[in-house]
Amino acid sequence: MAEGLQGVILTFFSTSSAVGKTLVSCNITSELAREGARVCLVDLDLQFGDARYYLHLSPERTVYDWQEALKRNKGASVMNCLTEYSYRNVHFALLSSPLKLEQAYNIDVEAMQKAVLQLREEFDYVVIDTSSTFSALNLAMLDMATLVLFLGIVDFIPTIRNMKVGHETLKSLNYDRSKIRLVLNRMGAKTRISREDVERLLDEKFYHVLPNDFRAASASLRDGVPLVLADPRAPLAVSLRDLVNRCLNRQGAIEAEAEEGGSWLKRIFR
Ligand SMILES: Nc1ncnc2c1ncn2[C@@H]1O[C@H](COP(=O)(O)OP(=O)(O)OP(=O)(O)O)[C@@H](O)[C@H]1O
Ligand SMILES: [Mg+2]
Repeated sequence: MAEGLQGVILTFFSTSSAVGKTLVSCNITSELAREGARVCLVDLDLQFGDARYYLHLSPERTVYDWQEALKRNKGASVMNCLTEYSYRNVHFALLSSPLKLEQAYNIDVEAMQKAVLQLREEFDYVVIDTSSTFSALNLAMLDMATLVLFLGIVDFIPTIRNMKVGHETLKSLNYDRSKIRLVLNRMGAKTRISREDVERLLDEKFYHVLPNDFRAASASLRDGVPLVLADPRAPLAVSLRDLVNRCLNRQGAIEAEAEEGGSWLKRIFR
């Protein structure tokens, strides 16, 4: 990154669990890293975070250790708490969720905000995986985000009701409208509810739709290699790459860089 520029923060959020936040955030991180960007994935699903399992990593330090280090020394660096993921020539960092459930209880919002602020100085992208609640921590991560990827799936009425509540709540936060991107995951999975019905209910069209691809998703979980790296031609991998390109407005980005000296924020909001 050029001096003085700060990294883009992408926060993945949903109002129901098991809609794909971790799978998608791991893949978006991998795709950005594959393209040569410096990327850090932050797993803030404090109690049940599983990014490390998705990536078959065994972190020695986590957000818990970061908070402890910060208590001892206000000048601590979060870079000492990261775990490196490598696959062939692709590398990125993970700031893992705590290894033990009891370590998750007293993680404070301010310490996590400090971590993200430090990380955005060091990385081009900070990708944040969250849990499915409007907790103080998640609200802070929504606030800090450059873009929020709000994920949903169309399966059962409760999931859709939660998506509606979540969508209304996100709107009430009065962010720039272009900051929130509605993403429908697992399109094509068996359901009696149509995408159009959900769009009508939400009064907004999905920004991007990811296909259901059970085989590819389970294989990448089994092998610990995100799909965009392991099976880049799988329809889900293609669609994940497409999501990256759309979020970063790639077509306009090249012109923007030339005109504006390469500001990442300006790229996104063009
Ligand atoms: N597009 C997809 N096609 C098929 N399977 C998928 C797809 N996206 C996610 N999955 C599968 O759905 C399950 C839930 O995904 P994931 O763990 O990413 O959800 P999550 O939103 O992070 O859940 P949680 O809130 O519990 O952390 C996983 O088994 C994952 O492999
Ligand atoms: Mg998850």
